[in-house]
Amino acid sequence: MKFYIEGQKTLKGELYISGAKNSALAIMPATILLEKPVILKNIPDVEDIRTMSELLKILGVKVKKINKNTLEIDPRDINKYQAPYELVSKMRASIYVLGPLLVRFKKAIVYMPGGCSFGPRPIDFHIEGLKKLGANIKIEHGNIVAIVDEFKSAHIQLPFKSVGATIHLIMTSALLKDKKITISNCALEPEVVDLAHFLNKAGAKIYGVGYDEVIIEGVNKLEIDEYEIIPDRIEAGTYLVAGSFKNNKILLRNVIVEHLEPVIDKLLSIGVKLKIYKNEILVEGIEKPRSIEIQTQPFPGFPTDMQAQFMTLLSIADGVSIIKENIYPNRFAHAYELMRMSADIKIVENVAIVKGVNELTSAIVNATDLRASASLVLAGLIANGNTIIENIEHIDRGYEDIEIKFNKLGAKIERII
Ligand code: EPZ
Repeated sequence: MKFYIEGQKTLKGELYISGAKNSALAIMPATILLEKPVILKNIPDVEDIRTMSELLKILGVKVKKINKNTLEIDPRDINKYQAPYELVSKMRASIYVLGPLLVRFKKAIVYMPGGCSFGPRPIDFHIEGLKKLGANIKIEHGNIVAIVDEFKSAHIQLPFKSVGATIHLIMTSALLKDKKITISNCALEPEVVDLAHFLNKAGAKIYGVGYDEVIIEGVNKLEIDEYEIIPDRIEAGTYLVAGSFKNNKILLRNVIVEHLEPVIDKLLSIGVKLKIYKNEILVEGIEKPRSIEIQTQPFPGFPTDMQAQFMTLLSIADGVSIIKENIYPNRFAHAYELMRMSADIKIVENVAIVKGVNELTSAIVNATDLRASASLVLAGLIANGNTIIENIEHIDRGYEDIEIKFNKLGAKIERII
């Protein structure tokens, strides 16, 4: 699947931000722990959610799509504890079912998640944490085989503020009756906090989420009727970058401003005009963005998932920008595609030196991962000429109706086979 994008289109108008993919991908597997069905609202209609729904159904969980953005999940008939290769290899977040299956069945088998275009994506922090909780884990024929006799209280010290390990270990601990689990050096991302809110509303006792140390007192029952997922700060950030190009003016509705602080901070340094309301942000583009320095960090630092999109904006800035990627070893595949579009970028280990050019020129480029694809769509929208992006399956994983939203703003993006 490809996108055909006409260049140099002015974007004006307003759009609604969808639910947070990475929050939904945490909360959906956590429903395995519930005593009864739950209605999840504001779920983004994207490929990764369909994959997670598929995985839950294979385990015997009933997943019903009530409407485009609402799911009813009923875990009562769950009857399998094995997550197969074909789904786990498609989506890394599948690993989150490991802990909850272990809690339900005292046994779980999940295929090893693969790497991706920006690194090996290990899961050692997840495995070590589950072992601390009492699990025996070994790798057999590509599968993670986990069994447990008796869970135990533990103090888990995460070596890094891993979003996935924090999410996985919090959800696994929530239903460990009479156990007390402390997790130090937790990730503080809003999606972690959203999961904990969901679980606490269901009766969990999770304290301190959103801070470095989280304490979980396991309970013996979790149930909740319905829950609304937070808006997607990375989708919002992507459209804020789109609105930053000259002559563009976009009103984003349904955002949580404090989730976007590090992105807003950098856009203001670049010189972009922003009007910030309670749940909305109006962004107005500027003639020439200022060059800046960016370092990706765990929340509340600048999000690695916004690095590629900012690289496109900075590729036509005035001067030289420096982007240091501290989360992943080589998350710069998009840089080589932008260079095909006349961007002037040098990569030195985990640093990208982006020398602003006058304009990008259209090309045939290749999407390598979700956020890289977004940066190429942004590049296609401003380039001189018409751009073709190949392999846009990546983008469908995490952006709901992206060409529909952009075309409503005045873009001309066509999906071609
Ligand atoms: C989550 O991935 C997100 N995915 C990623 O978003 C995001 O880039 C990342 O957090 C960082 O914010 C989901 O939420 C589904 P990490 P995750 O564990 O949990 C290393 C997107 O675009 N690490 O915080 O996998 C890891 O290799 C995706 O939506 C270990 O070494 O990220 C990385 O270098 C892309 N061992 C760093 O830690 C582990 O056991 C941060 O990873 C786990 C992670």
